[in-house]
Amino acid sequence: LKAGIINVTGYAGVELARLLHGHPEAELTCVTGRSGAGQRLAEVFPHLAPCDLPIEPELSPVDFAFSALPHASSAEAIIPVLDTGAKVVDMSADFRLKDAASYEQWYGVTHPAPHLLAEAVYGLPELAREAIRGARLIANPGCYSTATILALAPAVKEGVIQPRVVADAKSGVSGAGRTLALTSHYSEVNENFSAYGLDGHRHLPEMQQELVALNPAMGLQLTFVPHLAPMTRGILCSCYGAIADGRIGTGAQGQKTLLDLYRSFYAGEPFVRVVDRPPHTKHTWGNNVCLVYPTADWRTGTLIVISCLDNLVKGAAGQAIQNMNIMCGFPETMGLDALAVYP
Ligand SMILES: NC(=O)c1ccc[n+]([C@@H]2O[C@H](COP(=O)([O-])OP(=O)(O)OC[C@H]3O[C@@H](n4cnc5c(N)ncnc54)[C@H](OP(=O)(O)O)[C@@H]3O)[C@@H](O)[C@H]2O)c1
Repeated sequence: LKAGIINVTGYAGVELARLLHGHPEAELTCVTGRSGAGQRLAEVFPHLAPCDLPIEPELSPVDFAFSALPHASSAEAIIPVLDTGAKVVDMSADFRLKDAASYEQWYGVTHPAPHLLAEAVYGLPELAREAIRGARLIANPGCYSTATILALAPAVKEGVIQPRVVADAKSGVSGAGRTLALTSHYSEVNENFSAYGLDGHRHLPEMQQELVALNPAMGLQLTFVPHLAPMTRGILCSCYGAIADGRIGTGAQGQKTLLDLYRSFYAGEPFVRVVDRPPHTKHTWGNNVCLVYPTADWRTGTLIVISCLDNLVKGAAGQAIQNMNIMCGFPETMGLDALAVYP
């Protein structure tokens, strides 16, 4: 499979190049980039020396394309690629929201390709594997959204919590991308910890959209608060919701019921692991796994679910390759079997 990356020069794009290098069935044949055009990949990113390619201004014909452009530019770039017959995974937010008006409200721009919204599939394989298999355009979920949806999906689907739910998430700085910004300078982030996006982070509507679809009758009302943590990679998300009366039990019996519920929901999933103790971001550093730990504060009847993942892998490039594998009929785990890097 000839694969191309539109915009290899951001963090998501360059992580895709690294992961595709180890894929047995996909060959990276073309990469594009604005600032890097005319240079070689290995000049800009020395760690990619073995998969050296020229960085082109435009994509040449490929069987499969990934876009790692910012929103709006991404949809514009994807339209002609789909016309060539290639399948596409878009890592931007352009095709995640089903409603063009909601996209305009949250992203402040007119949608460049509203005609493609109905056919684009929200590419969270654990919830939409069959739809992904037949799709030609995948909206790769946001990094925070992947962590939050995977943490809450079993509880929401089974209706074991009340509608008001809080997701409190912390991300490493690479989540903000490679583009220079004052807020991600070393001296602003190091030894610091802060909340942001309190008036509504852009990942909130896609979380709400996907979780509500699992159980529309529940009337989910999600509050999402992201934080910036002084680390390079990783997202840790702590979710809280009041347990619906009588649904779980308490103490050791309640814990067993919860674990059974989560393990049965994710049975057979290669990239979601339900764990017995609170996971650390380092347990997922560089791999495509999302770790999920469900428990509760039994004194107050509050469900607590901790999830964590690598924002650039299961939160971006790894999930994009997982989607490619499904769309192309490769084994889902192909090229994605690396263990986490530790320490
Ligand atoms: N970082 C993450 O953890 C993450 C996770 C999931 C999804 N995503 C999504 O993946 C996409 C890329 O994110 P990123 O974090 O990799 O961003 P990034 O590191 O900031 O890279 C964005 C790059 O895009 C280029 N660019 C900006 N506007 C452009 C335009 N109009 N045309 C061509 N190139 C343009 C810039 O390159 P120049 O140097 O050429 O200006 C910049 O380096 C975004 O849509 C983001 O939402 C990111």
